[in-house]
Amino acid sequence: MLGYAIEGQGPPIVLLHGFPLSRAMWGPQVSVLRERFTVITPDLVGFGESDPPANPDGMTMDVFAQAVVRLLETLGYDRVILGGFSMGGYVLFRVLARAAARISGLVIADSRAGADSDEARQRRMATIARIREQGPEGFLGEFAAGLVGTTTKTTRPGFIDTVRRLVGAPPVPTLVGALTAMATRPDSRPLLASVAVPTLVLVGEEDTITPPDAAREMASGIRGARLVTIPAAGHLANLEVPEMFNASLLDFVERL
Ligand code: MLT
Repeated sequence: MLGYAIEGQGPPIVLLHGFPLSRAMWGPQVSVLRERFTVITPDLVGFGESDPPANPDGMTMDVFAQAVVRLLETLGYDRVILGGFSMGGYVLFRVLARAAARISGLVIADSRAGADSDEARQRRMATIARIREQGPEGFLGEFAAGLVGTTTKTTRPGFIDTVRRLVGAPPVPTLVGALTAMATRPDSRPLLASVAVPTLVLVGEEDTITPPDAAREMASGIRGARLVTIPAAGHLANLEVPEMFNASLLDFVERL
């Protein structure tokens, strides 16, 4: 079972969170979107209030995606605007692969369409070993800091603690499952040319995890996609510079 929240009234928008976060990361977006939209924010398998993955070592992006599609079926939403941040974007592509007819528009934030490089995959495996040996605390503290851009780190050093609190304490099987799913995810770039719905791609100018080049590559593969780069923001652009992120998001979804 997935945890989720539904707020507001209007055309449905689903927002998929990143790693190792939960639906709570969408707070600044939900508070403006709910004025005119129904905003559905699921917790992906294992995160927030969702049940842990049944098989962490065999976890895949398709398992995340299948749970999201099942939730939409259960809630009775035939067609939604689908948004995904980072790992949520990886899940979004797998939803697109299995249920494109359910999607009326896409919002892809600080994410990429390609698979992990060999090096990235090895890093994920080393992280899994570290978490199993030492517990997640050290990893989560370092990872939370890496999500934040240089400008935010310099001008608001306390922001990293805010992110660390938002991350909370995801259990080891959840972290292992998500790291495994990210490491083994397929290359979704072949899907880009088939996207036939309006698409917004957002990226923080200082994002080092899914950098602007990856966003540009993704946007250029999708017919008519709009690309917005958020200045002075790192990977967590929606939380670091919510005003510009929200303005671009609202402008896009209101025209759909
Ligand atoms: C995320 O923000 O969801 C992850 O950092 C993405 C990744 O590690 O590839």
